[in-house]
Amino acid sequence: MSIYNSDFLIIGSGIAGLSLAAKLAEIGSVNIITKRDIATSSTNLAQGGIAAVMDKSDSFDLHIKDTLKTGYGLSNPEIVKNAIKSAPKRIEELIALGVNFSKKGKKLDLGIEGGHSKRRVLHATDMTGKEIEAKLIKKCSANKNIRIYENHIAIDLLLKCHASSCKPSKNQCAGAYALDNANQVHNFLANKTILASGGASKVYLYTSNGDEITGDGMAMAFRAGLKLVNMEFVQFHPTCLYHPKVKSFLISEAVRGEGGILRLKNGEAFMRKYSPDKELASRDIVARAIDNELKKSGNECVYLDITHLKSDFIKKRFPTIYGKCLKHGINILKEPIPVVPAAHFFCGGIEVDSNSKTKIKNLFAVGEVSHTGLHGANRLASNSLLEGAVFAHKAYLSIKKDLVRKPLAKHSKSETWNSGNARPSDEAVMITHNWAEIRTLMWNYVGIVRSDKRLERAESRMKIISDEILKYYWDFFLTRDLLELRNIACIAQQIIRSAQLRKESRGLHYTIDYPKKSSHYAKNTTVDRYI
Ligand code: SIN
Repeated sequence: MSIYNSDFLIIGSGIAGLSLAAKLAEIGSVNIITKRDIATSSTNLAQGGIAAVMDKSDSFDLHIKDTLKTGYGLSNPEIVKNAIKSAPKRIEELIALGVNFSKKGKKLDLGIEGGHSKRRVLHATDMTGKEIEAKLIKKCSANKNIRIYENHIAIDLLLKCHASSCKPSKNQCAGAYALDNANQVHNFLANKTILASGGASKVYLYTSNGDEITGDGMAMAFRAGLKLVNMEFVQFHPTCLYHPKVKSFLISEAVRGEGGILRLKNGEAFMRKYSPDKELASRDIVARAIDNELKKSGNECVYLDITHLKSDFIKKRFPTIYGKCLKHGINILKEPIPVVPAAHFFCGGIEVDSNSKTKIKNLFAVGEVSHTGLHGANRLASNSLLEGAVFAHKAYLSIKKDLVRKPLAKHSKSETWNSGNARPSDEAVMITHNWAEIRTLMWNYVGIVRSDKRLERAESRMKIISDEILKYYWDFFLTRDLLELRNIACIAQQIIRSAQLRKESRGLHYTIDYPKKSSHYAKNTTVDRYI
């Protein structure tokens, strides 16, 4: 076991983690731990773009209005206002880093996606996240104050007090335990720890996210006693590629923004039955419409058709989607793309204040892992990269201000990891079986359309699975798969509990037992380990 010391520890390497690392490196040493290689993150997969008011025909008021409308009454208006007004500054910083957003002539080429009343989505063709991630990696890798530890998965937070009786407000974070590729546990000590580990969409059988998105940060925070807010609001992206050989490939919402039409197998364009905004209705509406059509017809997918657009335009605007589909035998210039909805984004997460501070001293959470109040019950397309950049900056300012009052102290001592009587795993099938069972039951019972009965079934099955995992966790040596399984099980249970608390349908939470929105539930749901 090794002990690594730094002023700041950042867990995760997407836009939130890396942009914060680049800023914090100006005032101290930064260790970044990331589960795979540095570029593996949800940011890297983000196709559509980043929303900001960058044109005279647009206004902050309109972007605020669109965000609040999409959030179905649960976004925090002050947070929304603040985030949207600071967006252009964060975009300028990205451009200064070298991010090459697509242009039309000399002007930024602004795209449009569902729920936006104006063209305001900055993009780098259809690989915006990859372009941002690459420039952030370049910046961080060149900084002597930043050390990057790849292939390290965080296990749990290093806390002053681990007892369940210790309330978060009385606790302090001193870093985290992490497991490396050789299954060795290390202590990463830091004065400030920042969770930037993304969402938890891997809890579901079908997802647009990478394999690494297993809710680790949320689960660690939950175990440390923090509240998780609005976990029932899981966003299902309406259009992931449906192909037996391709896992988790998104067909960007920008495709619908540029005129893509959703059709049934018989060619019928069906979105007009569900919303006057048709294909550009918000994601919850489009995903539910597709789900409904699939359940009615028994078909396996619907189709996204852009064959009416000019070939040159498609190839230039969507080179990645065009190339990927062609590689798998679908020529999107000539035939519609088979698509299905898939889990994409968590609007809920760790409770934080307006500076992304948690209730545990010296612990922050930024980006998808946190609940900032920006998204409410549904997220407006392309507001997620924005949230990462905006709240990383707020956390940076808050940390910097704190340091003026109280300079950084080094932690010299920490509790070493104790494996107790653990022995090598003898039944790894428990891991693969439960992993598959959780993801299937979450898809079938806690997916796009829910009911009391489905949630009850999910709850009772999850109880059995979780007990089994807990026992295994203490009896056997740690492996990455076991840690991830423990985390998805924890998050699955919190989604179920949160969904059971909301006896209405609002935004991304739809239940056939309470199909209407109710003013009684116009509030956030919270779950923690004490209730
Ligand atoms: C997309 O390109 O459709 C994804 C962008 C987002 O989730 O906001």
